[in-house]
Amino acid sequence: MLNLILLGAPGAGKGTQADLLSREYSVPKISTGDILRREMAENTPLGCSIRNKINAGQLVSDEDVTKLVELRLSRPDCGNGFILDGFPRTIAQAEALEEILKAAGREITKVIEIVVPDDVIVSRMSGRRVCSECGATYHDKYNAPDTEGKCDRCGGPLRIREDDRADIVSERLRVYHEQTAPLSAYYSRKGLLCRIDGMEELQDTYANVKAAIEAKK
Ligand code: AP5
Repeated sequence: MLNLILLGAPGAGKGTQADLLSREYSVPKISTGDILRREMAENTPLGCSIRNKINAGQLVSDEDVTKLVELRLSRPDCGNGFILDGFPRTIAQAEALEEILKAAGREITKVIEIVVPDDVIVSRMSGRRVCSECGATYHDKYNAPDTEGKCDRCGGPLRIREDDRADIVSERLRVYHEQTAPLSAYYSRKGLLCRIDGMEELQDTYANVKAAIEAKK
């Protein structure tokens, strides 16, 4: 059973690694960023109410995001595990997650933090392209698609994310250090944390993440 949390700053490579892991271990990737962007694209009441916050690099409320995750975890495809990408992001979310899992007789099996310095994050974000159809992530230098501007997986058009503008990235990093970084110590105290250097090439980082998952403790 793989009940995994991926931690790391915005742009550290959580989504990229989660996609690879999801295919290899046949467990769903649950990205709260993707779920929230879908709500915005579909103009749901929640989507409309969070648009300004997300586009400004702020966090959505713990309550809203926890409800979405609880619902998503209750789906049958999570029966053999899940990979949480972008959740929890505050101590309150981590505590809520523990309660949700406890009520279902489950627990987190591992927490992997992908560590990348802030200056590298800024350059990664500036080259990121995402598929408008399936959400797959590329980079114009480090992970380019086979055909420029088109998704390898579904052929959808690639676009730049609204919150990848340099000024918004700085705000996301500020919010990360203030509200999310404390989760590293939180999960370390629980003996669940493994830190991985996210500065390696994408496939080398992946090999290190897999080794961490398969290590006994
Ligand atoms: P979210 O979508 O989760 O954004 P994030 O955490 O900021 O993470 P990113 O998706 O930006 O980056 P990533 O770590 O997945 O990196 P990626 O693999 O793309 O959240 C967006 C917003 O939604 C938040 O700001 C907030 O407003 C809201 N939200 C979401 N969850 C929430 C929650 N729990 N609570 C409250 N609000 C929430 O990689 C980045 C780039 O680098 C890519 O181009 C990739 O190709 C490239 N790359 C990846 N790995 C490597 C490598 N090893 N070497 C070189 N390039 C690499």
